[in-house]
Order: sequence, then structure tokens, then C-alpha cells
Amino acid sequence: MKILVTGGAGFIGGNFVHYMLKEHPDYDILCVDKLTYAGNMETLAPVMDNPHFKFVKADIADRDAIFNIFREEKPDIVVNFAAESHVDRSIEDPGIFLKTNILGTQVMMDACREYGITRYHQVSTDEVYGDLPLDRPDLFFTEETPIHTSSPYSASKASADLLVLAYHRTFSLPVTISRCSNNYGPYHFPEKLIPLMIANALNDKPLPVYGTGENVRDWLYVEDHCRAIDLIIHKGKVGEVYNIGGHNEMANIDIVKIICKELGKPESLITYVTDRKGHDMRYAIDPTKIHNELGWLPETMFKDGIKKTIQWYLDNRQWWENIINGEYKDYYKKMYEGR
Ligand code: NAD
Ligand code: TYD
Repeated sequence: MKILVTGGAGFIGGNFVHYMLKEHPDYDILCVDKLTYAGNMETLAPVMDNPHFKFVKADIADRDAIFNIFREEKPDIVVNFAAESHVDRSIEDPGIFLKTNILGTQVMMDACREYGITRYHQVSTDEVYGDLPLDRPDLFFTEETPIHTSSPYSASKASADLLVLAYHRTFSLPVTISRCSNNYGPYHFPEKLIPLMIANALNDKPLPVYGTGENVRDWLYVEDHCRAIDLIIHKGKVGEVYNIGGHNEMANIDIVKIICKELGKPESLITYVTDRKGHDMRYAIDPTKIHNELGWLPETMFKDGIKKTIQWYLDNRQWWENIINGEYKDYYKKMYEGR
């Protein structure tokens, strides 16, 4: 069994590579990644010597490169994590989101059609459903919730999802899609809420909370997401969409306060800054389908997962300090200075 994992030098893809090599030591894992600002070979360093692992640097939107990889490697299953993934960057510069997230998905599926695979899995997001109001805690996203996007990022992911379903209907490509809530855990790039707050708190820097901090996200420990994808690619029904989430809704401000407490830092570091444009209020997944059909349930409670995550950032300072001392400095200045 050979699995081609795109975006494996990023946060979730990297965790998935580690997870699959551990859970399926006889599988071959081929990682294809463009190594954008979000891709990091240090995330893959622990597996580079594994004879069942191979890395190829390539852009999923580069048709020639991707077709060559398929011709030479003949993967059985493709799991497409590769994407531009940060909402704030998509507000600054939407173009690359359309290229990678939509056209890249098309190239990957065209290669699958040309060379044949048993499954193409698209890693999508709950953000394709738009947001829910704070005063309706009874509402959740199901797989039937209409697509209703807010940001260029979510619009690009939703476009890709529609294209994936179209390739199934039109060309009978054996696809599955998963739509997961916000992940957290090791190797999370420090532009995202949780690692950004951990890194800033450890450096006694202000903790920039957008708007009122009341926005709600449904947090899932990254390993639980990896396990769900493993189940879907082996047991999921072709042509189906699966929502993944652990009923762990939390307001941003509460997360930031937990991080302060865990690190022994004062809440006076919290600074309210200008809100994100079009900021989604609440995400909340109904995971009934994946539970009933595939028996999936999250295993890591937030109270344990956040402790493990903070410990990982304490134990792996070099990993994130290398990032925040690089081109990230310019990004941070542009996005947060005078905000
Ligand atoms: P990430 O930004 O940490 O990693 C993305 C990876 O993709 C990087 O290694 C990057 O180099 C690579 N990449 C980007 N453009 C590429 C291209 N054109 N060709 C090849 N590689 C390219 O992202 P992440 O948080 O790990 O997210 C992975 C996937 O999961 C994305 O599809 C995202 O939409 C989805 N998702 C993320 C979350 C979350 O909470 N982070 C939740 C649900 C779904
Ligand atoms: P983020 O990690 O960017 O994920 P997403 O936007 O995909 O949910 O942001 C999570 C939440 O945290 C979101 O409501 C925006 C908020 N946020 C802040 O308040 N401050 C920050 O510096 C960042 C990066 C995010």
C-alpha cells in the first residue's frame, strides 16, 4: 500500500505522516509538498531515515511535476492536505488560495484519473458551512448544511469540495471528503491562534485577541483528526462527506486565558485588537455520521490536549523559534503593528 500525502510538511499533514508510519509500519508514505512558508522539513526530520518514507518537493498545481510523480510512484491512495490555510492571509492576498486550493485539487484529481487510484481523499474544513450565531447553541453543522462561505480561504476550500464531488459524479473518481473543525497540537504554525498565543506568552509579548474574543471555535486534538482520516480512507463510503469534530466549543478569550494560566503568565498580556474582516462567529460540528458509520470518537479531551500541546512547545522551542525569527517577523509586523 502506497499513500501519497500532499502538504505533509505542514501542521496536520505532518502529524498524519507520523501517525500513519506508526499505525501502518508496512505502508509506504510519499509526501509531496511545495514547502511554502508553512512547510517545514524539521517537522519531517524524525521520519526522513524511515525506509517507508519518501519526500518530493513539488507544487500540486504543477501538472507536469505531479503527473511525473504519479507515473514513477504509482500511489494507491491520495490524501490531499496541501493548501493555503490561513484566513488572515487569504484576506490580504486571495490569488494563491484559488491557485493552490482549487486548481491544485484539479491537477491532483486529473493525475488520479490518468494513473488510477483506489481512493482520493480531500481534506476540507467546517469553514465551508460559514458560521452559526452565538445565541443558537442548538444549531450544528451537519453534512447537509448548505455551503455558505465567508472568507476567500473558505470559498476556495468549498470550490475544491464541489469539484471533488463533480469528479466523482462525472468521472466516477472514488473520492471521499472530510470537513474538520479547528485542530490544535504539535507542529502547528505560530500564525494560528493557539501556537501564536503560546509563543507570545512565553516571550511576554501582548496576546492579540480579535474583536471581543467571543468568537467560538470547535477544537479537536490533531491526532484525533488523523485517526478519522485513516478510518475514512479504509472504511469510508466512496462519494461521501464526513464531518469531524469533538463537541468542544470554546470562546477565543477562554482559550487565551487557559494558556496564560498554564504558563503562569498574567492576563494583563491580553490585548484586544481590531477584528478580522468578515470574522465568523461560531463553528460547531455535528459528528454523528462518522460516529455511527465508522465508530469514530475523539480520544483526547481539551483539558489534556492543551496541556500536551503547551508541553510540546516548551520541549521544542527551537522548532518554533526558528520560524518566528525568520520571514514571520515581517508577517507579524504587517498584520499586528498598530492594529
Ligand atoms: P498548513 O498551512 O500548516 O500546511 C499546509 C502545507 O501545504 C504546507 O506544508 C505547505 O508547504 C503545503 N503547500 C501549500 N501549498 C502547496 C502547493 N501548492 N503544493 C504542495 N504543497 C503545498 O495547513 P494545515 O493547518 O496543516 O491544514 C492542512 C489541511 O487541512 C488544509 O487543506 C486545511 O484546509 C485543512 N484543515 C485545517 C484545519 C486546521 O485547523 N488547521 C482544520 C480543518 C481543515
Ligand atoms: P485561526 O487559528 O486563524 O483559525 P480560523 O480562523 O481558521 O478559525 O483563528 C482562530 C480564532 O482566533 C478566530 O476566531 C480568530 C482568532 N484569532 C485571534 O483572536 N487572534 C489572533 O492573533 C489569531 C491568529 C486568531
